[in-house]
Amino acid sequence: MRNLQVSHQAPLKSSLIYPQPLVSGSDTMSTTSKKKKTTSKKDESLVAEEDILMAAVDDEAPEVSIEDLPGVGPATAEKLREAGFDELLALAVMSPGDLADQAELGEAVAGKIINAAKKMANIGGFVSGVALLDRRREVQKLSSKVQSIDDLLGGGFETQALVEVYGAFGSGKTQIGHQLAVNCTMSVEDGGFDGDVFYIDTEDTFRPERITQMARGHGLDPDAVLKRIHVARAYNPAHQMLLAEEIKRMSKGLNVKMIIVDSLTSHFRAEYIGRGMLANRQQKLNRHLKDLKQLADVNNALVLVTNQVHSKPDAMWGDPTKPIGGHVLAHASTFRLYLRKAKGGRRIARLVDSPNLPDGECVYQVTQEGLRD
Ligand SMILES: Nc1ncnc2c1ncn2[C@@H]1O[C@H](COP(=O)(O)OP(=O)(O)O)[C@@H](O)[C@H]1O
Ligand SMILES: [Mg+2]
Repeated sequence: MRNLQVSHQAPLKSSLIYPQPLVSGSDTMSTTSKKKKTTSKKDESLVAEEDILMAAVDDEAPEVSIEDLPGVGPATAEKLREAGFDELLALAVMSPGDLADQAELGEAVAGKIINAAKKMANIGGFVSGVALLDRRREVQKLSSKVQSIDDLLGGGFETQALVEVYGAFGSGKTQIGHQLAVNCTMSVEDGGFDGDVFYIDTEDTFRPERITQMARGHGLDPDAVLKRIHVARAYNPAHQMLLAEEIKRMSKGLNVKMIIVDSLTSHFRAEYIGRGMLANRQQKLNRHLKDLKQLADVNNALVLVTNQVHSKPDAMWGDPTKPIGGHVLAHASTFRLYLRKAKGGRRIARLVDSPNLPDGECVYQVTQEGLRD
């Protein structure tokens, strides 16, 4: 609340915060802008802006909020939120005694709230294995056009899945994003999806020139490919989340088959610093991942996100081969690929924790024309 007041005095920096319409890759070609990186240090007004945007994101969500529970007025809702209960599911799994304690409510009131939350929360349900198999039959696989990578993945990158590509700086995460964006536009016979790509670029590393090289590498018309890749630069976590929401609206009339977020975690990492912010960060990240996974399911599309590994090998908690993002991201990813450089300019991709494929590694190269065996 206190943040909201600050922000009335400090108008929104709309050029930075609001999602600009996504542009196609070919449009970014003419404006070879190398924008200065926004600093991650936030002043108070930026914090306030973010809160407003988060609220806006929440308002648009189709989900029922805690205010919709019978008997929960603004005062009770505020108590619940202050105690950390801002989702129905969080309430539904509580016991009346614990909720009463934590949110400073009477136990009878707490009991009623929990019962209502159980009825209204979307806890999902059971479907038959046959129904699941039908859904799985729709799964398509995008070819990387690199035999060793496709083999590792049992034929290619699956739709209805969230693939996390992680590795150190320079390990080739962005190269994979670019290559799969190109391949996604290829015909189905050629291993593509004949589809459109939405590319959320958080590090200002999308390069239409690189798309052109890779398109030529497969004998494709670069302009036709660039037209199907819709790129937006995200400036902070809230903006990044809004852009993902924007894809829902923008995808009408397009055959959206792939969504790339490169990098998923860099903004979240820069803005939520320190242990005190961790819960908050993971909650936002979880929300963002849910939105992305929904896009994958609704469009029978592939979501590819990139992620850095911990950069401090000396720190106790910083295993240098562990991706950041913690359990939230680990659970959300269907496939995880760990990239690293090998001798002689070769690259190694390792498949980690797949639900239905053996762990394994493959070797490939990054060339001027793109990824190759
Ligand atoms: N045109 C090119 N030809 C050959 N290799 C390239 C080309 N462009 C980039 N690369 C390779 O890709 C690397 C950068 O990979 P990148 O995907 O940006 O890393 P990450 O996103 O993991 O930080 C470069 O170090 C270089 O080896
Ligand atoms: Mg990169």
